[in-house]
Amino acid sequence: MIKALSVSLAALLISTMATTTAATAAGPLLSEGLNTGGNTKVNKHNLSSKSNATFRAASNPSDPRSTQICIFCHTPHNSVPQTALWNRKDPTRYFGHYSSASLVIDNSNVRSVSQYGEPNGSSRLCLSCHDGQTALGAVWNGPVIQFPAGQDKIAFLSLSSHHPVSFVYNTAVLGSIMTKKPTEGYQLPPPGSVVKLDRRQRMQCVACHDPHQDQSDTPSALTPFWVGPDHDAVCRECHNINPLPPNP
Ligand code: HEC
Ligand code: HEC
Ligand code: HEC
Ligand code: HEC
Repeated sequence: MIKALSVSLAALLISTMATTTAATAAGPLLSEGLNTGGNTKVNKHNLSSKSNATFRAASNPSDPRSTQICIFCHTPHNSVPQTALWNRKDPTRYFGHYSSASLVIDNSNVRSVSQYGEPNGSSRLCLSCHDGQTALGAVWNGPVIQFPAGQDKIAFLSLSSHHPVSFVYNTAVLGSIMTKKPTEGYQLPPPGSVVKLDRRQRMQCVACHDPHQDQSDTPSALTPFWVGPDHDAVCRECHNINPLPPNP
């Protein structure tokens, strides 16, 4: 099992490198954000003490984990049981979810199929740092990895003003949306799309964000850690209309 996991980690690194060569404009890889040899590239998810990011572990020679990169999110063994490879504790706060008068997935009769509610699946993993309260170094395996005082937590991401996540998006849910919004161009992401649903066909944060590397041609505050070449290309995989709805 451990062997299989390290093989897949290596495979990802190689495939990500290949992508970078093809799309040179994409943002830096996690491993390219290291503060060595005058390098100034920043990848905000590189929390190693050797990183260029603002939020990074304290330099601590007695804890070699502080110099690692993947450890803040992954572990090759003894990971959280429900998600292979994951090295974080489940966040404890209540998040709520985005809601609006026109949102179909939140209708009481659709919710039994859409399962829309509190964040679940891998979105909870993102929120184990983006919850405004859990220490960035609070990993599942071993004691908390130390960060400098005042730099050990990040802001709370309010889900009431961010795109809905953690709902099943299948043909049944799409059918309900189309009944209410026949002209709004809703569709499931086509096969092979950069936009991926999870194994249970749920839309999660990773539908739009790639936590490893920004794949956008023009990385910006509008496309942070983006899964696709540009902002609209990602939205249009599911909202096939002009103009696009604003990002909630
Ligand atoms: C900020 C958190 C974070 C960091 C740091 C991170 N990852 Fe990930 N990684 C994720 C998330 C989230 C997923 C997707 C989980 C899911 O979709 O269920 C993932 C998935 C993966 C996968 C599975 C890919 C797939 O498509 O199934 C591999 C392999 C992986 N990461 C390797 C790495 C390696 C190697 C590093 C260090 C260089 C790293 N990750 C650092 C968050 C992170
Ligand atoms: C181990 C902690 C950790 C985890 C887990 C994590 N993040 Fe982050 N994330 C950070 C930090 C630290 C920053 C930088 C915050 C800052 O600069 O204010 C950040 C920034 C971001 C940004 C903004 C980048 C920018 O350029 O402004 C996005 C988007 C983001 N994360 C998405 C995600 C998603 C999606 C997941 C889950 C797939 C995730 N994060 C999981 C720590 C984490
Ligand atoms: C529909 C696509 C989409 C999904 C799904 C999505 N985001 Fe975002 N996210 C964006 C866009 C677009 C931006 C940049 C514009 C903005 O700030 O609204 C952004 C910005 C961010 C930022 C940086 C700015 C800020 O508001 O702090 C963070 C952090 C972030 N997202 C995390 C997450 C997390 C965590 C999830 C899952 C709970 C998630 N996102 C789900 C599209 C998405
Ligand atoms: C994986 C498919 C998918 C992607 C990618 C996606 N959306 Fe959505 N979006 C949906 C679904 C499904 C809903 C829920 C519609 C409903 O229930 O009425 C939704 C809801 C919305 C809503 C709220 C509609 C309302 O009635 O309140 C807005 C606004 C929106 N999306 C904008 C965007 C933008 C902007 C992007 C790109 C940054 C984006 N979406 C990317 C599938 C997606």
